[in-house]
Amino acid sequence: MEFILVTPQARPHVALIQLNRPKELNALNLQLMGEMRDALKELDDNDEVRAIIITGNERAFAAGADIKQMAGKTAIDMLNIDQFSTWDQIRKTKKPIIAAVSGFALGGGCELAMTCDMIVASETAQFGQPEIKIGVMPGAGGTQRLTKAIGKAKAMEMVLTGRFMSAAEAEKHGLINRVVPVELYLEEAFKLAGEVAQMSPVAAKLAKESVNRSFETNLDEGLHFERKNFYLCFASEDQTEGMNAFVEKRKPEFKGR
Ligand code: HXC
Repeated sequence: MEFILVTPQARPHVALIQLNRPKELNALNLQLMGEMRDALKELDDNDEVRAIIITGNERAFAAGADIKQMAGKTAIDMLNIDQFSTWDQIRKTKKPIIAAVSGFALGGGCELAMTCDMIVASETAQFGQPEIKIGVMPGAGGTQRLTKAIGKAKAMEMVLTGRFMSAAEAEKHGLINRVVPVELYLEEAFKLAGEVAQMSPVAAKLAKESVNRSFETNLDEGLHFERKNFYLCFASEDQTEGMNAFVEKRKPEFKGR
């Protein structure tokens, strides 16, 4: 991997992926996104991993797709490159993913953070969809996920003016989970990931799938889907262990089976 650093056991059962193009503010070129897709697939298949953190560095989570790589492209080049099949595969990761964001999370960077399941940010984080300023618009989910997260009025403003949103504002409008001082954002993400990693990995996967389904379906279908996944939990050893541990007043030991 040239543009990301992967640590499968950064903490017990928690993997870390760090974007590593610091000079370019972690601009997301095609190779980086391909590496991200491959790393997530590997971590998803690794039974020791129960939660994944994606981070950048203090100055930038990611300042967007690589503008220099896109600048000369035609519509048909973009169609043939088909970068969004990579993003679709990232979206299909079954394990919970937390974005640990500091500095710029712009364009594709903001979209990558929103593709994750939760976002922990430093006080210096800035979220934005500034594509309009370079004559385009969001293409990796920005108009959809941002609108669902913060509502139409704020999303329209960000997408149509390219205005950045501070971490405090992003927290206020429900885009992110929490804001902490810059020296603590990664630690806070590890804390959150560590909590998730203590739960049943089977239940976590099914729960993530069910929450995400709410974006794609009506309430009746969503409730039906949830119910099936709830029943499926009862096929797991983790369900037996979790409930027995409660009755026996001890901590459960989940195995992901
Ligand atoms: C390529 C980028 C980049 C990007 C920054 N750099 N963002 N290179 N693509 N998205 C490079 C700069 O060219 C520069 O390299 C170096 O990183 C440092 O950036 P500066 O601009 O010198 O830093 P600063 O003055 O602090 O400004 C930071 C910034 C600005 C506000 C984040 O860099 C900026 O506006 N970047 C573009 C943000 C953007 O428009 N993102 C959306 C992209 S489109 P050199 O070598 O010149 O010193 C997009 C579409 C997604 O994301 C669709 C699907 C994937």
